[in-house]
Amino acid sequence: MPLFAVSARLPQPALDLLEAAGEVRVADGGPLTRPELLELVAGADVVLSQLGDRIDDEVLAAAGPGLRCVCNVAVGYDNVDLEAAARRGVAVTNTPGVLDDATADLTLGLILAATRRLGEGERLIRSGRSWAWGMDFMLGRDLRGKLLGVVGLGAIGARVAARARAFGMRVAYNNRGEAPAAVTEPLEAERLELDELLTAADVLTLHCPLTEQTRHLIGAPELAAMKPTAVLVNTARGPVVDEAALAAALRAGEIAAAGLDVYEDEPRVHPDLLELENAVLVPHLGSATVETRTAMADLAARNALAAARGEPLPTPVTS
Ligand code: GLV
Repeated sequence: MPLFAVSARLPQPALDLLEAAGEVRVADGGPLTRPELLELVAGADVVLSQLGDRIDDEVLAAAGPGLRCVCNVAVGYDNVDLEAAARRGVAVTNTPGVLDDATADLTLGLILAATRRLGEGERLIRSGRSWAWGMDFMLGRDLRGKLLGVVGLGAIGARVAARARAFGMRVAYNNRGEAPAAVTEPLEAERLELDELLTAADVLTLHCPLTEQTRHLIGAPELAAMKPTAVLVNTARGPVVDEAALAAALRAGEIAAAGLDVYEDEPRVHPDLLELENAVLVPHLGSATVETRTAMADLAARNALAAARGEPLPTPVTS
């Protein structure tokens, strides 16, 4: 019987799938400490990991030689050392496709919250301070006619762009190469170099994976190049943005506002950001809906079963 080591309690339908096929060792409670993770994986045939679990060579070694696959319950897999996995002959899977809409919805939520100052307004009401409707009271900016700059026009970026079009926005993007015409044509999206996109965008939204090339892709020089009225939204991975530089840019008015779902050193948030009214901060909620988390767990479980049976993996990560 294969042993499935599951690093966080998954929705029951996914656990049922695993339980019907083998022994399931599930961690209860919050994120695992390093020793807990090392202990959990010992002897596993398949590990089902979370994005907060650092799956490196030490963890792969702790699992032992029977380990066949790491199934990350996330679309991002920057927490998994792919080279170490490949060296040990361990496959890696992720959960693409099933969280695109939920993440795009959350991204639009952050765009609206940042452009219309929703966090600030909520804090004002809750503070009990006096306020009154006024012609110039707490003004934000319209989305209609503005340019959405998408860094990483993949599955999630394209869904964000489609939603933004419904709000009357224009779309431009930066990918390493041209995105497929089937994606760009309905969006009427033009490819710009990153420096052009930075200066042109009214809202810049990040949807690229975290890699050595994208770490601190948005730092002080990039923020300085943006419009003072621009908004930056990050629902990708925290380290794509230099958080200290972002806090400084928001404080100096180099850009107008930011909406963040992810942080450089999660769950820690740069203390300067906490002080800023023009930063909308939510705790990594991109895929956090009942339907989406159920679908993610189901896909991870189907990958795990395929790995245990030696069948083709539904969604392997190919590096
Ligand atoms: C969430 O951030 C994911 O990568 O699934």
